Amino acid sequence: MDQKSHPPANDLKLQKQIFAVASGKGGTGKSTFAINFSLALAALGREVILIDADLGGADISNLVGISAPRYTMKDFISGEVTYLSEILEPTPSAKLRIICGGSDIISISNPYYQQKMKLIRNISMLEADYIVVDLGPDITFNNLDFFNSAPVGFLVTQNVDPIILGFYRFLKAAFVRRLKQEFRDEQFILNIINDFQNKGWSSTRRNLIGSIRAASQEVHTRLDEILETFQPKLVFNMVSSQAARKTADQMFSFILENFGFRLQTVGFIPRDRDVERAYEHSEPFILRYPRCDGSKALFEVLTVCGLNRTAAGEQVRGFADFFRYIKAEASNWQFIKI
Ligand SMILES: Nc1ncnc2c1ncn2[C@@H]1O[C@H](COP(=O)(O)OP(=O)(O)O)[C@@H](O)[C@H]1O
Ligand SMILES: [Mg+2]
Repeated sequence: MDQKSHPPANDLKLQKQIFAVASGKGGTGKSTFAINFSLALAALGREVILIDADLGGADISNLVGISAPRYTMKDFISGEVTYLSEILEPTPSAKLRIICGGSDIISISNPYYQQKMKLIRNISMLEADYIVVDLGPDITFNNLDFFNSAPVGFLVTQNVDPIILGFYRFLKAAFVRRLKQEFRDEQFILNIINDFQNKGWSSTRRNLIGSIRAASQEVHTRLDEILETFQPKLVFNMVSSQAARKTADQMFSFILENFGFRLQTVGFIPRDRDVERAYEHSEPFILRYPRCDGSKALFEVLTVCGLNRTAAGEQVRGFADFFRYIKAEASNWQFIKI
């Protein structure tokens, strides 16, 4: 796949409260985070749509116990239905609807450029307070473009080297694609970026951003805007927060120094047997085990992101308060017995 046949989705920037959830490696708990995060927002009274856009390994429907969705992403990608809004699937939560993926269909795991643009356009047309998009882990132009088109990007990682490596690769690729999209008409800047990519990032003395700045005064404002807006939110999953905090600080410094943007770590979710147990029963953990450590950590993520507000604008100040909302939500889900 070359860049020419897959140009970045630059003319479409999703403006609503759309959260992309990515990782760079499978199995980090991305989908588990996406569904429980979406449910937490729904429990606070927000209209939420969760989209399973992991086109190669969709599993959101399983995580909420929907074994045979009426429609899946396949119906949209194949043109069977015209609008994404036609394939919204209700859930026991009045405020949460989902768009199921179609994992068994290889042909949709890599949609053509036009299909991708149609999907991005349709996501922006959906009506909800929040839209959460669970992406595939692979570093493909599609995943990178979905990630870059959303105003807020979450990255779910673990504190182990191979997964951190995958995370860095995804992040770097997304950032470079964002730069290439912005400077697509400035060949000399594209040359600098390509040069960095070809030589390997660590072998060069000067950093990428410094080299772009040195090359041209005129691009400074545009570059600064990218650096200010490209602020992925990092969620550590299955970690002990003390060790992960250290890694988070190192990552922050490394990224700022080498790429000039700020990585924001928004939470540390522990490895929690209750999270796993809920998963084994195809049940979201915040509903099945609302008091578990995973739930508490998820509430912290909401708080750090400033999302701990009800639809009525009331601030949810502590976990005890949040617990009341998720308990009320859980009563809509029949499998839950608190
Ligand atoms: N905080 C956690 N504690 C324990 N197990 C977890 C946690 N988060 C996810 N898992 C487990 O990790 C596995 C992969 O999770 P999943 O959300 O499907 O990952 P991904 O979507 O990134 O591939 C599942 O078995 C899930 O139960
Ligand atoms: Mg997944």
